[in-house]
Amino acid sequence: MSNQKLTGNIALVTGGTKGIGKAIADQLSAQGATVIVTARNEPELPDHEFIKSNVTNAESVDALAEKIIRKYGKIDILINNAGGLTGPGGGYQTPTDEQWMNEFNFNVLSCIRVDRAFIPSMVAQKSGVVIHITTVSAYKPFHQFNLTYATVKSALNTYSKGLANELASSGVRVNLVSPGIINTEMTELFIENKAKESNTSVEQTTQEFIESAGGIPMGRMASTGEVANVVSFLVSDAASYVTGSNYYVDGGLFPVVQ
Ligand SMILES: NC(=O)c1ccc[n+]([C@@H]2O[C@H](COP(=O)([O-])OP(=O)(O)OC[C@H]3O[C@@H](n4cnc5c(N)ncnc54)[C@H](OP(=O)(O)O)[C@@H]3O)[C@@H](O)[C@H]2O)c1
Repeated sequence: MSNQKLTGNIALVTGGTKGIGKAIADQLSAQGATVIVTARNEPELPDHEFIKSNVTNAESVDALAEKIIRKYGKIDILINNAGGLTGPGGGYQTPTDEQWMNEFNFNVLSCIRVDRAFIPSMVAQKSGVVIHITTVSAYKPFHQFNLTYATVKSALNTYSKGLANELASSGVRVNLVSPGIINTEMTELFIENKAKESNTSVEQTTQEFIESAGGIPMGRMASTGEVANVVSFLVSDAASYVTGSNYYVDGGLFPVVQ
C-alpha cells in the first residue's frame, strides 16, 4: 500500500511546532498531505509551512483561516492540538477565576474558534476530518495538580461529541484522541528538574511520576509518534465510518472499561 495516502489533502496542525503536534505534522506530511503548522513562535528550523497565530485570540485565528483558505481554497484535515496545563495545582481552593477562564480559553474556546473558522469550508466541500487532542485526565483528574486542566478538557470532549453529531450528515468527521503520559521535551524537563530537586535518578523519578498517575500497565510513557500513529489512522479513509469517538493512547493507564 502506498504511504502517500494523504496526497492532495491540506492539513492544519495547531501547536504543530513541538511535542505531539510536531509528530502529527511530520507524519501527515510523510503521508503526502500539505501541512501548515501554527504556533506563537516560529521554530528556528521550520519543517513545514509556518503561519504565526495565537489560538487564544479570535482575531488571530480568523486571520489564520483567511490566509489558508485564500492560498489553498480549502482545508481537509484540522488537528486541534494546541493546549495544555496552565492552571496551578493545589486543589479546588487554589485557582482563581481568572486562572479557570484562561484554562478554558486555551483548551476549549481555542478549538471552538478554530473549528468555527475552518469547518464551513469542509461542509461546503462535503468532506473533512477534525481531531481534538484531549487527555486521559478528563476522565481521571488529579486534583492535586491538574483540576483546572482536567475539568476543561472534559468540556472539550462533550463539545466534540456534539459537534460530531451535528456534522455527521455533512461528510465531516470529528474525533477525540486522549493521550496518557507522553514523552515530550516538556515532560523530560519536568522529570529532570524533579530528579535534581529530590537528588534521585531520572529513571527513579520517571517511575515515581508514573506511579503517581496510578501506574501504566505498559510500564512506560508513549512517544509522540505513538499518538501521531492514531491520528494518522483517524484522518485516513480507513476510518471513514469513525466519528464521535475517543481514542485512548495511554498504555492502559485508564483503569476501567471506557
Ligand atoms: N504531553 C503530554 O503528556 C500530554 C498528555 C495528554 C494530553 N496532551 C495534550 O496534547 C496537546 C499537545 O501537548 P504537548 O505536550 O505536545 O505540547 P507542547 O510540547 O507544550 O507544545 C505545544 C505547542 O502548542 C503551541 N502553542 C502554545 N500556546 C499556543 C497558543 N496560544 N496559540 C498557538 N499555539 C500555541 C506551542 O508553540 P508556541 O509556544 O511557540 O506557541 C507548541 O507548538 C495538548 O492539547 C495537551 O493538552 C499532552
